[in-house]
Amino acid sequence: MKILVTTPSGKVGSELVRLLQANQVPFRLGAHTLDKARAAFPGAEVVRLDYDAPVTLEAAVQGVTALYLAAPGGLASAPEQRLVDAAKQAGVQRVVKLSAHGVENADVPLRQTEQYLEASGLQWTHLRPTWFMQNYSTSHAAAIRQGGFAEPAGDAKTGFIDARDIAEVAMVALTRDGYHGKAYALTGPELLDRRQVAERFTRELGTKVTYTPLSDEQFRAAMKPYLPAHYLEVLSALYGQVRAGSSAVQTDSVKRVLGREPRSFAQFVRDHRGIWS
Ligand SMILES: NC(=O)c1ccc[n+]([C@@H]2O[C@H](COP(=O)([O-])OP(=O)(O)OC[C@H]3O[C@@H](n4cnc5c(N)ncnc54)[C@H](OP(=O)(O)O)[C@@H]3O)[C@@H](O)[C@H]2O)c1
Repeated sequence: MKILVTTPSGKVGSELVRLLQANQVPFRLGAHTLDKARAAFPGAEVVRLDYDAPVTLEAAVQGVTALYLAAPGGLASAPEQRLVDAAKQAGVQRVVKLSAHGVENADVPLRQTEQYLEASGLQWTHLRPTWFMQNYSTSHAAAIRQGGFAEPAGDAKTGFIDARDIAEVAMVALTRDGYHGKAYALTGPELLDRRQVAERFTRELGTKVTYTPLSDEQFRAAMKPYLPAHYLEVLSALYGQVRAGSSAVQTDSVKRVLGREPRSFAQFVRDHRGIWS
């Protein structure tokens, strides 16, 4: 067995690599930025995998038996479909797709990739998580260090999940039988609105952290200089769904697969406290 891990510097991908290393499962990293992957995982086999460069997709899948398929947010489906084709051609048997909660009800690129995979004849498993806790240790980390974060999320609740739990489910589905042809709606153990998220930070870090709700217009204006226009549209639509309550979901999927409760938000903050201190 050998697993190709896409997005090895990503929130879930990097945790999956750590788990594969710890469990001595053979893997190869398909990295967008080679230096980043080499620095994070010294000694690991790293090849270039750039969805914008089809030739790298074909090369990356040679000699692997399973694929962890993930992509940056907002990517069109065609490049991932190309990787699925290349994987099939190269004799890959099993693919675990990082998707997102609720895509089954929408005609979005992640669902198009899922459907392509379902029709491919390969063994597939879809992981459909809600919002990652790790957004607060990456995108929002600097703001939290300054005392507060802002999002256009209103007072809606979200079943935030720790990317480490998603990665563990991915490893199980990649390495054990019995998970093929299934989609898992993955959530954390509790529903929190953003004020409660801020309270968790305040309590665990011992310094005041606040949440500022933004309107969609304020969010667009604030993010415009930093994000490509199409991705800003995607994020704006996703936050609209959050405000409408669509991420207020809690499932027992993590427990069913891993045999334990998913990690709590408080645990996530405790385990990463150095990032915000
Ligand atoms: N974040 C959430 O809360 C959340 C929730 C549910 C579902 N999702 C889904 O999870 C997936 C990952 O999203 P994320 O926001 O968490 O991002 P992420 O995985 O943390 O980071 C994006 C990754 O994509 C890589 N990448 C960028 N451009 C690439 C390219 N042209 N070819 C190959 N790889 C490329 C980046 O590599 P470099 O660092 O080397 O550029 C990085 O590893 C998305 O499909 C998203 O829709 C996210």
